[in-house]
Amino acid sequence: MYRIVKKRELAENVDEFVIEAPEIAQKAKPGQFVIIRISKKGERIPLTIAEKDPEFGTITLMVQRVGKTTFHLSCFEEEHIIPDVVGPLGKPTHIEKWGHVVCIGGGLGLAPIHHIAQGVKEAGNEITTIMGFRRKDLVFWEDKMKLLSDKVIVTTNDGSYGMKGLVTDALQKLIDDGVKIDMVITAGPVPMMKAVAELTKKYEIPTVASLNPIMVDGTGMCGACRVTVDGEVKFACVDGPEFDAHKVDFDELINRLNMFKTLEAEALKMFQK
Ligand code: FES
Repeated sequence: MYRIVKKRELAENVDEFVIEAPEIAQKAKPGQFVIIRISKKGERIPLTIAEKDPEFGTITLMVQRVGKTTFHLSCFEEEHIIPDVVGPLGKPTHIEKWGHVVCIGGGLGLAPIHHIAQGVKEAGNEITTIMGFRRKDLVFWEDKMKLLSDKVIVTTNDGSYGMKGLVTDALQKLIDDGVKIDMVITAGPVPMMKAVAELTKKYEIPTVASLNPIMVDGTGMCGACRVTVDGEVKFACVDGPEFDAHKVDFDELINRLNMFKTLEAEALKMFQK
């Protein structure tokens, strides 16, 4: 049983949950995730561990309300018990001392990026973080990323906060300014990761993307999370979730994610009735 210790709304439709899960907090490494079920027969949803506190035995998860289960979860308050939290799952991020690492997170992609940046910093790297949002009121965790990063650039699509434009505009500016970049790590909406990968490929900057496909069992058995990397089928839950971004078939991933949108919208409508 996993108790919600703290819950707060970070931005419109985005909640942060601190959950008591001592064993997971002890074992979790950057890049790993959990799969939760909010009821015994409920849908399984994968959530990246954004932060852990082994001393207090807690993990922090970010949840975007996009479908029935995530809207239902957003109704849970502190002290509520989540029956199933399984993890840590997935391969931890491969981290080494690269030099200057640019961590790029869009929206909820900040969850993996935060935990990864902690590991990247511990390994002695310099970090520039680029955080992308649609507008000012959706910005969150800038303070936390500032604690880990040597430099933080926030972009908003409408220019209401930080630099106007996309994360790729900020990345292009760093490149144009002659900043040496040894590694890029990105997480967020798939079209954003695709755009980052296309840009860094042009400049031959090694890039890793933390993928977010649909998952069911999280153990490599169901095939729901399959992605094509370098022409080979991989299961994001056991082979990933991080892959060489220059080798990922992002178009296929976008199509697979879109396949379930209608069903998800119908389930949400039923739940909200
Ligand atoms: Fe089932 Fe990955 S979630 S194989």
